Amino acid sequence: MEPLLEVKQLHIHFPTHGGTVKAVRGVDFTLGKGETLAIVGESGCGKSVSSLAIMGLIDHPGKITNGSIIFKGKDLTRLTSKEMRKIQGLDISMVFQDPMTALNPTLTIGSQLMEGLIHQKKLSKRKAKKEAIKVLDLVGISNPLERLKQYPHQLSGGMRQRVVIAMALICEPNLLIADEPTTALDVTIQAQILELFESIQKRTGISIVIITHDLGVVAKMADRIAVMYAGRVVEVGNKRQIFYHSEHPYTRALLQSVVRLDQSNNSLKPIEGSPPDLFSPPKGCAFVDRCPYAMEVCGRIQPQKTRLREGHQVECWLQDTRAVTIRKEMLASQS
Ligand SMILES: Nc1ncnc2c1ncn2[C@@H]1O[C@H](COP(=O)(O)OP(=O)(O)OP(=O)(O)O)[C@@H](O)[C@H]1O
Ligand code: SF4
Ligand SMILES: [Mg+2]
Repeated sequence: MEPLLEVKQLHIHFPTHGGTVKAVRGVDFTLGKGETLAIVGESGCGKSVSSLAIMGLIDHPGKITNGSIIFKGKDLTRLTSKEMRKIQGLDISMVFQDPMTALNPTLTIGSQLMEGLIHQKKLSKRKAKKEAIKVLDLVGISNPLERLKQYPHQLSGGMRQRVVIAMALICEPNLLIADEPTTALDVTIQAQILELFESIQKRTGISIVIITHDLGVVAKMADRIAVMYAGRVVEVGNKRQIFYHSEHPYTRALLQSVVRLDQSNNSLKPIEGSPPDLFSPPKGCAFVDRCPYAMEVCGRIQPQKTRLREGHQVECWLQDTRAVTIRKEMLASQS
């Protein structure tokens, strides 16, 4: 099956006064039609920056320095900003990490919902209003006709988040990127929003990239999981492969550091140490300083992807048959 989205060898840099932050350092992942991919990993590992790049929202002086983002056969990194604007909201839309920034407090819910339909899809006001009512209904907001006339502050937090999701869905995109869509909400509303995503996906066949710290959300929603560390995807696989057969020491440490509802004997182990400085990331594996299994080769050479099973890939020297050969070569060169 041809993927809807294929991110290949993506590199993103942010020049700053203190040097260049190499925020994303060769990210690869694919997403099929109707599929949900969860991106997980510690704060600062490049989850948001990677997804902003898909939306064409890396602000200057930040820059995609290498790689491609193939969406429906087109490389988005090669489009002009005008061409990219046609895709934003229409084909790909995003629910941002902070939902409040997505709503304009001075405009009614109705005018914010209808804006894309009127200006981008060129619908008449009457038709746009009909669509707005339909989408509010889809996200479970009762009395939509009245809600259209209200301002964001007149709605509860949960309702505002539903409106933000409605805004992301109104132009019927093929891909929805949701960056921590439930973090700011209480547990009951969180569950409702996740169910909402599921039912929308069933009805519309939309593909979803969900970024989250919450492995409960991942377990509930994801088909596949990409584990990011220091600007790279270090392991990718389906839910079962990642939760029960993970092979990367970082994935394992991440799973042990959070409460798992599927395991009765919880002994939480925080991951010691901190991620590397992305101004000058290490030459080899970025997890080397925190990894209990680190070998000499790990710090010197970046591990390559090893395919373990269908759809399950890992970047770790422990899985690479060349580790033995490299060690022999090193010993030979030292003797
Ligand atoms: N505009 C920017 N200028 C400089 N550095 C940036 C900029 N935006 C992001 N970064 C850096 O890029 C790295 C990745 O950031 P990103 O926001 O993608 O992290 P994240 O994985 O989404 O983290 P979190 O879980 O905290 O949201 C971080 O080191 C961050 O400081
Ligand atoms: S490559 Fe080496 S340091 Fe990196 S995770 Fe694997 S064993 Fe640990
Ligand atoms: Mg983020």
